[in-house]
Amino acid sequence: MSAYLKEDKILFSCDFFGSHIATTDVYVTDEGRVYEAAKRYFAEIMMPFNKVIIKNIDKVLLKDISIIAPSHGPLYPNPSFIIDAYKDWLESPAHNKVVLPYISMHGSTKKMVDYLASSLVQKGITVELFNLAVTDIGKLAIALVDAGTIVIGTPTVLSGPHPNVVYGAYLANALRPKAKFISIIGSYGWGGKTVDILAGMIPNLNIEVLTPVLTKGFPLEKDFKALEVLSEEIEKKHKEQGFK
Ligand SMILES: Cc1cc2nc3c(=O)[nH]c(=O)nc-3n(C[C@H](O)[C@H](O)[C@H](O)COP(=O)(O)O)c2cc1C
Repeated sequence: MSAYLKEDKILFSCDFFGSHIATTDVYVTDEGRVYEAAKRYFAEIMMPFNKVIIKNIDKVLLKDISIIAPSHGPLYPNPSFIIDAYKDWLESPAHNKVVLPYISMHGSTKKMVDYLASSLVQKGITVELFNLAVTDIGKLAIALVDAGTIVIGTPTVLSGPHPNVVYGAYLANALRPKAKFISIIGSYGWGGKTVDILAGMIPNLNIEVLTPVLTKGFPLEKDFKALEVLSEEIEKKHKEQGFK
């Protein structure tokens, strides 16, 4: 719920346009710092409601606004700064970017992740890696806002994905990012249902699954070739979508 004080043209936007930032400054002073904190707030709180927001955003934005005063974070004396950022996060197509959350116990999956990441980078695709053993999960949420493709890297543990990866997949499913493609890479010892389990964990995502690459133990030449094929497929799909 938002309130508009027409005499002073102030929009009290409640959670909308909020930022995860604690500061004694009443107004935004450093837009770069607030941009990151507001994107985090958007990713963690607003992104699941993307479609509802797009449908209703003009109800508040058609007002003549001189200040936006959210209930979290500093006030915006330059409302177009945060309005333009929201329009980008909500409505722009995904970027030419792959977000790659992964974990590796003994290094096999990590080897695959590094290979795929450098192959994608050589094709001009931005890659953001998140080691789920140590990552700040909020930063992963931020990266998901405009990722075109998500690639999950996991070893098989107890017949399925590693528990930290389960957490990451649960988060991605709950946040409903606009990514169009997803794949899974990783290493196993003897077998399991890693791909089926992960695929079943993301029903909220309207997303195409690209051929996964699973290797037995440490990756070999044929596995790197399969990763190269995946990298080429991602490049082709991003070009078809016109991701920039
Ligand atoms: C606790 C634990 C459970 C595992 N469970 C399975 C399993 O159910 N199925 C399987 O194929 N491999 C299993 N493995 C073997 C790993 O998947 C295999 O060693 C893999 O190469 C590890 O990849 P990483 O080097 O990226 O950690 C298990 C390994 C550990 C340590």
